[in-house]
Parts: sequence; structure tokens; C-alpha cells
Amino acid sequence: MVERLTLTKPDDWHLHVRDGELLRRVVPDSARRFARAMIMPNLSPPIITTELARQYRNRILAAVPEDLRFQPLMTLFLTEETAPSEIVKAKVSGFVHAIKWYPSGATTNSESGVRQISRCYPVLQAMEEQGFPLLVHAETTAPDIDVFDREAVFIDRQLAPVIQRFPGLRVVVEHVTTRNGVQFVQDASPMVGATITAHHLILNRNALFDGGLRPHHYCRPVLKRESHRLALVEAATSGHPRFFLGTDSAPHPRRDKESACGCAGIYTAHAAIELYAEVFEQADALDRLEPFASFHGADFYGLPRNIEQITLLKKTWQVAESFAVDEDAVVPLRAGESVAWQLATGR
Ligand code: NCD
Ligand code: ZN
Repeated sequence: MVERLTLTKPDDWHLHVRDGELLRRVVPDSARRFARAMIMPNLSPPIITTELARQYRNRILAAVPEDLRFQPLMTLFLTEETAPSEIVKAKVSGFVHAIKWYPSGATTNSESGVRQISRCYPVLQAMEEQGFPLLVHAETTAPDIDVFDREAVFIDRQLAPVIQRFPGLRVVVEHVTTRNGVQFVQDASPMVGATITAHHLILNRNALFDGGLRPHHYCRPVLKRESHRLALVEAATSGHPRFFLGTDSAPHPRRDKESACGCAGIYTAHAAIELYAEVFEQADALDRLEPFASFHGADFYGLPRNIEQITLLKKTWQVAESFAVDEDAVVPLRAGESVAWQLATGR
């Protein structure tokens, strides 16, 4: 049995760090485990310009503990008003690495997202020309589509046509959750990849109703049935180079989660790589964790692989029930329960 696992420091290709006190509390959790993270732009108001991204990046950097190096890779929130010239600015900046397409209303703070993607074609064209990746929240908002089918329908109706129209555009299906999504990425060109979260690898939709309604297991895209979870585990542990780690760690104050209209988002940054290690160990694929967590994403984005390393120990530890922030608290995944792998500190 493997008791100790040293791997190239991973990257998190999909992360929400919020702002203010919450940002200062969560960034160290990610910085301990990851060398870089693709920072999602869905603040309120969203990060729609390179200038806003520059300021947000500085706030994130200020929250990185002194003994750690952590590089926030910034993204811009795509709106129907985004100008192609903004893409050029973003590319030139060197710190903005992608644009995020949120269908309007699909998830937290996405209201100013895209209603009709054809209005963004000039921007997508500029991105294709500049070699600038498009990150996609692949869920339709059509009210007649069942919530569990929203990814598959979005891929068919919205994403596939865009990929066909802009074949040179680099596209990431963020937090893929279904067998259909996995298949779509596998069949697509080398320009199309996908991130996979730890929670979608660990939980199926039963976790939403386990003994009662479980708001801390509610996220978008919503958890799916077991057969889809198994397809995700298979994709993540397959060694396929276009599937890579993206936690979608998304903290919300407890009052916003435990509410009559609770927010979507699961906080996993406190134990992110440890949770992935559990999944890979269970699938008897621990040797595939490093490529998935540390190589595939960097290679896909054309960024250098990290040099630093981290070590994980096969040692059970208890996750806190919650942590205090902003006169409220955040309830992390596995609150009060145990995680089978532990991050070694000060090797
Ligand atoms: C994210 C958030 O809270 O910002 N929520 C979530 O459930 N994943 C937004 C998102 O990535 O959809
Ligand atoms: Zn997200």
C-alpha cells in the first residue's frame, strides 16, 4: 500500500476565491496545495476587463502566505458587450489567460452572462486569432429542460455549433459532470479539454438528499446519477491528456447555503488534492494522479509544468465543522468527517 506520495505541485484549473475577508481566508488553502489556479471572474460585479482583473489579481497575491508561491491566472467574464479589443488587451497583459462563458442565469453571479452567443462571435473570432482559450459553463438555462439534462442539451445545442464555427478556438468544458460530456470531449479535436471537480468524482446526486436536504452538497452543475460519476472517475483516471483537475471550490457563507433559496457551490480547497488522492486510490490509479493534477492542464494551456513538489501522506485527519469568516462561517466538504490523505507540511 502506498503510504507517501510525492508529486509535482498541481494546478487548479477552476477556482473561486471571492473577495475581501473570505478571499484572505481561502487563498492560503489553495496556495498550500496548488502552484497556480485559474481564477473565476464571477464576482459581483463580474471581472469584465483586464484592468479589473489586474486589481483582483493584486488582492489575491496580497493574500498568499509569505512562504508560498502561488500564481493566480486570471479570466474575464464574457458579456454580450465584451469588445474584441478587450481580448487583445487581455492577451497582451500576460496575466489574463482565458475568457469565461456563463450562460446568463446558469449559476452564481451569472446574470450579466451571455443570452445569445452569436452576439459574441466577433469576440470568439478574436480569441481564435489570438490563441485565447474559452472556458465554458456548459449548462442550458432553458426552463423546459430538466436540471439533470442541462449539460447534455447545452453541449448539443450551444457548444457543438460554436466549436464547429471556430475550430481553432481552444475550449474547456468546465466541471464536466456527465458521461455525455466526457464522450463529447473524447470525440472532439485536441483543442477541446475538460476540468473535473473532486466533488463530482466523489458524490452522486443521492448526496443531495441523504437523510434530508443537504445544501452543502448543492452546486452547479448539480450532482448527477452514479453512472455519470463512474464515467468521470474513468475519464480522470484514464490518463487521457485532455482531462485535468479543476476543483470549482466555491465558498459561500453558511447563511447563503442554509437558506430557503440556497446558493450553489461547494468549498473543497481545504482538502482538494487529498480528496482527489482518495478517488485515484480507490480506482487503483494513484500513479495517474500526477499527470491529471500537475501535467495535463499545463500542457493543454501551453504553460510550463511546475517544478516544486508536494507530498501526501496516507494519514486520516478530521475536517473542521466550519470556519469563521465575515461574522458567519463556511462549511467545507466533509465537515466533521475524515479525509484519508494528508498534505505533508515542511518536507
Ligand atoms: C460557483 C460559484 O458559487 O461561484 N458555484 C457552483 O456551484 N459551482 C459558480 C459555478 O462555477 O457555477
Ligand atoms: Zn465554478
